[in-house]
Amino acid sequence: MVMEQLNTSLETAFGRYQLQRFPINKKESLRAWDAADEYVLQHLDENKLLTENVSLLIVNDSFGGLSVSLSKYKPIVMIDSYLSVQGIALNSQNNAIDEDDIKLCNSLDNPGDMVTDKYDVVIIKLPKSLAMLEDQLCRIRPALNNATKIIAAGMTKNIHMSTMALFEKIIGTTKTSLARKKSRLIFSQVDEDLAILESPYPTSYTLPYKLDDVDLEVSNHAAIFSQDKLDIGARFFIENLPVDETYKTIVDLGCGNGVLGVMAAIKNPTAKLLFTDESYMAVESAISNLASVFDDTREAEFLQTDCLQGVEDNSVSLILCNPPFHQNNAITDNVAWQMFSESKEKLAVKGELWVVANRHLAYHAKLKTIFGNCDVVASNNKFTLLKAVK
Ligand SMILES: C[S@@+](CC[C@H](N)C(=O)[O-])C[C@H]1O[C@@H](n2cnc3c(N)ncnc32)[C@H](O)[C@@H]1O
Repeated sequence: MVMEQLNTSLETAFGRYQLQRFPINKKESLRAWDAADEYVLQHLDENKLLTENVSLLIVNDSFGGLSVSLSKYKPIVMIDSYLSVQGIALNSQNNAIDEDDIKLCNSLDNPGDMVTDKYDVVIIKLPKSLAMLEDQLCRIRPALNNATKIIAAGMTKNIHMSTMALFEKIIGTTKTSLARKKSRLIFSQVDEDLAILESPYPTSYTLPYKLDDVDLEVSNHAAIFSQDKLDIGARFFIENLPVDETYKTIVDLGCGNGVLGVMAAIKNPTAKLLFTDESYMAVESAISNLASVFDDTREAEFLQTDCLQGVEDNSVSLILCNPPFHQNNAITDNVAWQMFSESKEKLAVKGELWVVANRHLAYHAKLKTIFGNCDVVASNNKFTLLKAVK
């Protein structure tokens, strides 16, 4: 079989750039940009929307498809993802772009604070969830006026009536373009008569568990996985969490709101906790959820990182993992593989990796390949809980 060579060269009216996804994977089969990036770049060029001193905001660029291509306009780029930040830095460097040409702000900043006036052009790559879109539209709205051109871009299958309704509610009149290569643009016009809405996030929900007879609540920023309720896989994991007084360090890998780590901390009162996630909002939610249970009495560390980068090798007793099945909007098991391989490096001898997974996913075989062993600790009709020991 002849493998088709992956195209890494994005060619548009704004130039030709070599772009890679992050982390770099030699067997990568996905491009670093998508048809929606190409569509929006073409629209900006055809309609001459970018002038020399334009004030430009880009929200949710994946790996530089937009920000690297438009770097000569010195965009402000708002991002939640650590992998995207690293990808944009790598691709800027590889295309000899000055790092000061792209200014980053994180997903909990207000992009209006980065400029003295309103933005002229705003490009939004649609995020995975409506909650995140709602939060982002509320955050950017004060930095727009009725002269701002607002263009969102996404794959047609991810654009619904509910997506359009959010733009109409928070920004103003909204319409879509024709579809091109399965992608579409959304054009929204600020209606200055609409009230400027505050983001409703973070929101919270009550867990089906108590501590000292008090209900436990978790707070969730907009980008959190299973933002409004406990994920059923996480619930199955919590019902079977390991307890062992020899655990010195417990890692909640891909922590989301930190619910697995917080519950493990309650059940293992002497262990030190470490929470990692690539999402800025996830790490901030985990910080606040651990603090709401323990104030600052519990020893813990929080890392916004790629999987377990930054954690010392051979140092961890137990890793808890409910692995993701996407990277940005692409479905992939690369991240799960990476999480399992890095777990092996970071665990001390006899350290344990516990993974919850949908039954249909072949994680048992993956863990056996990496660790040489894997047991099913518990299972029901939907999930299995697996344990591999170093
Ligand atoms: C299925 S969710 C699990 C969240 C939480 N542990 C739970 O059980 O509810 C997977 C988490 O992995 C995070 N994630 C995805 N890719 C990652 C990466 N490369 N490094 C660290 N975290 C990642 C996502 O942001 C998400 O919070």
